[in-house]
Amino acid sequence: MDKQKQIIEMFDQIAPTYDSANRILSLGIDVKWRKEACKKAFEYAPDLNKAVILDVACGTGDMILHWRKNASGFGKSIQKIIGIDPSEGMLEIAKEKLEKYLQSQEVELLLGEAKNLKAVESESVDILSIAYGLRNVVDLKEALQEFARVLKKNGILIVLEFTKKEKENFLDKITGFYTKKVLPLIGAAVSRNYKAYRYLPDSIGEFLSVERLKEELNKVGIETKFAKTYSAGISTLLIGMKR
Ligand SMILES: C[S@@+](CC[C@H](N)C(=O)[O-])C[C@H]1O[C@@H](n2cnc3c(N)ncnc32)[C@H](O)[C@@H]1O
Repeated sequence: MDKQKQIIEMFDQIAPTYDSANRILSLGIDVKWRKEACKKAFEYAPDLNKAVILDVACGTGDMILHWRKNASGFGKSIQKIIGIDPSEGMLEIAKEKLEKYLQSQEVELLLGEAKNLKAVESESVDILSIAYGLRNVVDLKEALQEFARVLKKNGILIVLEFTKKEKENFLDKITGFYTKKVLPLIGAAVSRNYKAYRYLPDSIGEFLSVERLKEELNKVGIETKFAKTYSAGISTLLIGMKR
């Protein structure tokens, strides 16, 4: 089986316990990271109204819930949120959590990969978010090209990710110990799937640094406006704007 298929199958397997493992492993701090991403996105798009948001690698729908919850608090309205993910298992959980928004057609969920967003029209999206998803995309260049295609001019890209450090400092060594040694054990206890939570630190090691990601985005016409790591450098928020 190819690497991308294996990754998707792994998410199918851990889908039922994904949310509880997430809350435990991040000690609930991911909620803060997600809220900050929404806040910053709206800051970089001050005139946004009736926004069309595309959440790629939407998983069980947490980021979609954050967009819905936070928009009005920041004085913004949302026309529609489209969530897309290739894991049927993750989408099943998302459907349960987002039932009322799906019924009112404020949210639409689609099965698909980041490298092929054919269901989404070119230059139709105001904000494209991808939270802890980009690391899992094997065909990264194709995916970034798709992001640039579907975003409107001046549209905002939000990436939340665990990025690779160019140089490790003392604090990185401590957080590295947690992600490499402790996290797989806790993840395995909650999900009964050690391999999936061993994959997490491995995939961070194989992923791009923030600087390399900026370069790749620049190549497809997305300029990085903001990049910051949070919580002792664990989580990175990057905000890009389509030129
Ligand atoms: C760590 S989860 C993140 C889910 C969600 N965005 C969140 O913040 O909780 C990674 C997600 O990426 C999805 N994924 C894996 N490969 C992908 C691909 N090629 N394109 C889009 N999504 C992908 C998985 O199915 C999974 O739902």
